[in-house]
Amino acid sequence: MGKALDGVRILDFTHVQSGPTCTQLLAWFGADVIKVEKAGAGDVTRGQLQDIPNVDSLYFTMLNHNKRSITLDTKHPRGKAVLERLIRHCDVLVENFAPGALERMGFPYERIRQLNPKMIVASVKGFGPGPYEDCKVYENVAQCAGGAASTTGFDDGPPLVTGAQIGDSGTGLHLALGIVCALYQRNTTGRGQKVLAAMQDGVLNLCRVKLRDQQRLARTGVMKEYPQYPDGRFGSSVPRAGNASGGGQPGWIIKCRGWQTDPNAYLYFIAQAPVWKQICAVIGKPEWITDPDYATPDARLPRLTQVFGEVEKWTMTRTKFEAMAEFNKHDIPCGPILSMEELAAEPSLRATGTVVEVDHPKRGRYLSVGNPIKLSDSPSEVKRSPLLGEHTREVLGELGLSESEIRTLEHEKVI
Ligand code: COA
Repeated sequence: MGKALDGVRILDFTHVQSGPTCTQLLAWFGADVIKVEKAGAGDVTRGQLQDIPNVDSLYFTMLNHNKRSITLDTKHPRGKAVLERLIRHCDVLVENFAPGALERMGFPYERIRQLNPKMIVASVKGFGPGPYEDCKVYENVAQCAGGAASTTGFDDGPPLVTGAQIGDSGTGLHLALGIVCALYQRNTTGRGQKVLAAMQDGVLNLCRVKLRDQQRLARTGVMKEYPQYPDGRFGSSVPRAGNASGGGQPGWIIKCRGWQTDPNAYLYFIAQAPVWKQICAVIGKPEWITDPDYATPDARLPRLTQVFGEVEKWTMTRTKFEAMAEFNKHDIPCGPILSMEELAAEPSLRATGTVVEVDHPKRGRYLSVGNPIKLSDSPSEVKRSPLLGEHTREVLGELGLSESEIRTLEHEKVI
C-alpha cells in the first residue's frame, strides 16, 4: 500500500529535537527525508547523552527514524553547488538553525525561491518577529517564554518545566501541519511559501486555557476551580494550579495503596458532575448525594479539598489499577500515573505500534515511540535512523553527480 506523502521529497536541514521531530513525522507518512549533516560531525545529538561509547545516542536514533543521511559542507563552494541541486530536487526544505544561519550560508528565501519557486521553506525558530527574534532557544526557554512554566507547579514553589517536550516536539508538530497545508495549497497555486513555527507561539498555543484563565481572573478576580480558592489569594496573573484540572470538571492527583514507597502509586481523579452520585456511592459517602453542601458542582467548588480527601481515603486502600477498574465500572473518569517503566512494558502500546522495538546495526535493539498518529490507509513502519552519511553516495547519484565528481567532493572533504 502507498503512503500518504509518497513522492514528497524533504531537504532536511534540521538538528537537535524540534526540527527532527517534524521531519520524522513526515518520513513516517512516506516522505523521502534527506537529512543534510555537517561533514565529519553530523547532528550534534549523535554524540550527546551517549549510553554506548561511539554509538549514535538514543537521543539521535529516536528522533531520526525513516530518514536518509548525507554529509555536506554547505559553506564550501562545491557544497553550495550540491545544495543548489538538492533545492531543485526537493519539495520542502525544513530547518531549525539559529536565526540568520541560512542567510549566512548564502541561501536566503529569495535565493531558494529563485532556484525552485515551488519549494516550501519551513522553519522552527525560538521566537517570531519581535524583540527576541534573533535569540537561540532550547526547549525549556520556550516553556518559560510561552507561559507553561509560570502556570506549572504549586503556588508555594518556583515555576516548573514539564517533562513533555512541548517546546521542541510540540513545535515540530505545529510545523509539520504547516508544511502539509502548504503542500496542499501548492496544488492550486503551483507556488511554494514560507512556513514558520516559533517555539514561543507553539507553547502558548498549548497553554491556550491559561490565557483563557488570565481573562477570567482579570474580570472576576477569582477562579473557583483553582486550589487557591477559597482560602488562598489570587494575584493579578494566572497562578500555578498544582494538579487542578484545566477544564470545567475538577480533578486532582490522589494517593493509592503503596504511595509511601512507589513514587507513581497515584491516580488522576476527576469529580465529573454527571457521575457525582456514582462517586458518592463508590467511596461510601451516599449522604453527599443530597447534602446541599455537596449535591451541586457550584456547592462543591469551595470544598474540593474535602472531596478529594475523601476519595483519597478510599483509593489509598487500593492499587491505582484496582481503583481505576472500580471507577471505570461506574463511568467515573480517572487515570493511573504511569511510569516510563510501565509504559515501556505496556502490551497495548506495543500492539498499536506506539511503542516499537527497532534494530540498529551498532547499538542492537532499542525501544522507541512510533508514530502516534494513525492513518488507516497509510500505516507507519518505523525504520532505524541512518548512520552519518550512510546515503551520501546514493543521493548524490540520484542528483546526477558522476563518480568522479563524487570522488572530488570526498577528496576535498566536502562530503
Ligand atoms: N555545513 C556547513 N555548515 C553547517 C551545516 C553544514 N551542513 N549545517 C549547519 N551548519 C552551520 C550553520 O550554518 C551555522 O553556522 P553560522 O553560525 O556560521 O551561521 C552553524 O552550523 C551552527 O548552526 P546553529 O543553528 O547556530 O547551531 P547552534 O548549535 O549554535 O545552536 C540552537 C543550536 C538549537 C540553539 C539553534 O539552532 C536554534 O536556536 N535553533 C532554532 C530554535 C530551535 O529549533 N531550538 C530547538 C532545538 S531542539
